[in-house]
Amino acid sequence: MPDNFLGTPATAPGPMGPEMLKNFALIRRNPLEYLFKTWRSYGDVVQFPVPKPPSYLVNSASGVRHVLVNNAKNYDKSTIQYKALSLVTGTGLLTADTELWRTRRPIIQPAFHKKALDELIPVTKAAADRILATIDAKATGTVTDLDPFMLASALEVVGEFLFGSDLTHDAHQITSATLDALEVVIKRARVPLSPPQSIPTPGNRVLKRSLSTLNGAVDSIVGTRSATPFNEDLIKDSKSTRNLVDYLLDASSESKIDRDGIRDEIVTFIIAGHETVASALSWSLALLAAHPEIQSAVASEAQYANGDELDSRLSQLPYTQAVFNETLRLYPPAWLITRKSLGGDSIDGYEIPSGALVITSPALLHRHPDIWSDPDSFKPDRFLGSYPRESFIPFGAGLRQCIGKDFAYVEGVITLAALCERIEFSYPPGHGVPASDPLVTIRPVGGVKLRANRRS
Ligand code: HEM
Repeated sequence: MPDNFLGTPATAPGPMGPEMLKNFALIRRNPLEYLFKTWRSYGDVVQFPVPKPPSYLVNSASGVRHVLVNNAKNYDKSTIQYKALSLVTGTGLLTADTELWRTRRPIIQPAFHKKALDELIPVTKAAADRILATIDAKATGTVTDLDPFMLASALEVVGEFLFGSDLTHDAHQITSATLDALEVVIKRARVPLSPPQSIPTPGNRVLKRSLSTLNGAVDSIVGTRSATPFNEDLIKDSKSTRNLVDYLLDASSESKIDRDGIRDEIVTFIIAGHETVASALSWSLALLAAHPEIQSAVASEAQYANGDELDSRLSQLPYTQAVFNETLRLYPPAWLITRKSLGGDSIDGYEIPSGALVITSPALLHRHPDIWSDPDSFKPDRFLGSYPRESFIPFGAGLRQCIGKDFAYVEGVITLAALCERIEFSYPPGHGVPASDPLVTIRPVGGVKLRANRRS
């Protein structure tokens, strides 16, 4: 194949330089739409006309699996996506390179054990009750933007379950700081050159303010837990009340992590643990409001489910879980998963040079017509039987798969069930499912403004 831009050898089909430049505005406004457009024009492995680094989009079931699972050792996370994110999170589990990740994951994993997750159920139910109390306090039929409720509630759950901290009073401040910081990060990731953080541009000022809010939250979380540490003597028969902060503090006393490392992990979990689940919940409600018959089925399933044991509770809510899955298929919050190739490789027969940026996207793979029938329709039933598991990757795949996957299912499914059991959500006349904006997660443009009526 000929060179496709500034002497970059073309090893896969893709647009030429002038065509990509013509799409510059779209790339900045909606990079996900641009990825869809490029994939539809050029196929499952696409090379962009970018010299440094050579950049590829991979969207076949086999190609994505190859990068994330089968040949994962040839790929790391030093990409523009994760470098930009690390301006906020530092080097926590999500952005860490493989070497650091190997030391951190064992420290953190116990906070997500099944026994610990049993305790997430009452925490989630209490958070859902707080949302219901606020909605109930409004006049019947009032239109409410539910997205901020989902963000605040998801943050409160992370605060209580992972940090043992009550974040209810600071939730708004922390969720705003998170969204503001991530917006700056996204803008930086979308342009090739950004001014250094030391120059007080408007973006850098917002970032500085947001970081100071997040760091303040970390200080208060660590301070609270250090003052009232987990007490083994008080809870002899249960290890499960030990939370993420306890495990981090334990590791610090054994010099396995330093103060900056603890800060970076807590900010990572604030961000990765709440915005993702909130996005999934907001889109679930947006889709359910557009499909009243599916919403009624969730409501009646919720009425019959009870019990606090994780397994029994989730196994009593198979349809709600299918709804949550179908939402994650259509609007996967983490819509972009990027890697850098460490050595040369071949994907689906196309040569990938060493040092290349490889872009994969659950949002694209989940709408691949060779894998999913009627891929753009909301059909939760497809998750009740067998489905193409290897091509359903809202939580990634392979070693770096999301540590919070089970956490997200418990919180997502139980919150949905609790809300739909009590409230019927609908759109005001003339409104429907909002447009999507692919920021760090896929956000609903203008929020999710729904009419809430108490179920009789
Ligand atoms: C619906 C909710 C969620 C979605 C869609 C989601 C998605 C993802 C994805 C796709 C990855 C892999 C990224 C990659 O391979 O480059 C990931 C990793 C991660 N997620 Fe989640 N996540 C969700 C919820 C959570 C929750 C609730 C937490 C924590 C409480 C969390 C914490 C993390 C962390 C720390 C990582 C890095 C894991 C590692 O590399 O070991 N996520 N997530």
